[in-house]
Amino acid sequence: MIKKIGILTSGGDSPGMNAALLAAIKTGIKLNKEMYVIYEGYRGILEHKFEKVTTSFMDDYLTRGGTRIKTARLPEFKEEDVRKKAVEILKEEGIDALIVIGGDGSYRGAKKLTDLGILCVGLPGTIDNDIASTDYTIGFDTSLNTIVEAIDKIKETMQSHNRCGIVEIMGNRCPDLTLYAGIATTADIIITGDNNPNFDDVVEQLKELKKKKDYAIVLISEKLIDTIAFTERVSKETGWETRLSILGHIQRGGTPSAMERVNAIRMGSYAVELLDKNIGGVCVGIVNNELTHYDIDIALELERNKHLEFYRIHDLIK
Ligand code: ADP
Ligand code: F6P
Repeated sequence: MIKKIGILTSGGDSPGMNAALLAAIKTGIKLNKEMYVIYEGYRGILEHKFEKVTTSFMDDYLTRGGTRIKTARLPEFKEEDVRKKAVEILKEEGIDALIVIGGDGSYRGAKKLTDLGILCVGLPGTIDNDIASTDYTIGFDTSLNTIVEAIDKIKETMQSHNRCGIVEIMGNRCPDLTLYAGIATTADIIITGDNNPNFDDVVEQLKELKKKKDYAIVLISEKLIDTIAFTERVSKETGWETRLSILGHIQRGGTPSAMERVNAIRMGSYAVELLDKNIGGVCVGIVNNELTHYDIDIALELERNKHLEFYRIHDLIK
């Protein structure tokens, strides 16, 4: 029977992590567990940054983005010796199980800790929506809303000046934020890693578009091209005055949306329920609006839904 549960956030922060923390802590205490937060991800284990918490620990944080217990990246956690040291420390503290909120890298760490005797449950915390074992990651909905609000504003000024606006969107090679934002704003062109971007074609498309429209919005996923150089090229070759907005980390902050909180709370509680049944080495997801869990190894092998029909719909409505 698991008595003491540790909880940490790892990798990039995301809005809604605090809601998941709140739910896990409250549920754990209801189920008679001792709940410990671990500050600064896996590094916090090695640095003994543990704190036993009460049920009200997260009460003032539900509406805040980021993570109250901080996050970190610790590349050395890929080394077995470092993980063994972490397990030794967790055992000294009497912590028999961990909830790890993070992305696929954090899941890999959680699986390896489970193999070393600490039962772990992963929760999908990342704005990128790049975890195939869930329809929505914690942070995706809020980030999408931030992006859409920004694009709506950029559109107004592009329209006023008869300009072409290029918007670079974060997402770490996962197209979802760019794709969904493209539909929600009816952007003129969406460029992601999934729709075979050919930037020569994009320039040609813009030349044609300029004959029909006085302004345009082009969305480009990060890490595909040097968007500064591409913006200069578009200006030069199309004759359309063009401006670039790189949204960057503004996408990661902000009050979690209502849907984000609902999903994060559901997943946070469920993680504790799983540990209460002695189930670990798994990650939690929401699929077809149902809570579910997968073995972490299986989850990491699942193929991501590319939402190809979204591109078809976009072609029809842009
Ligand atoms: P995310 O969890 O958002 O994908 P990262 O890929 O940066 O973010 O991973 C977060 C942390 O998880 C890393 O800094 C490291 O501590 C741990 N981690 C990542 N990959 C592994 C791995 N293969 N084995 C063990 N731990 C890992
Ligand atoms: O994984 C979340 C994410 O925001 C990605 O979208 C982005 O590529 C990366 O993290 C940025 O990382 P950092 O905060 O280290 O700049």
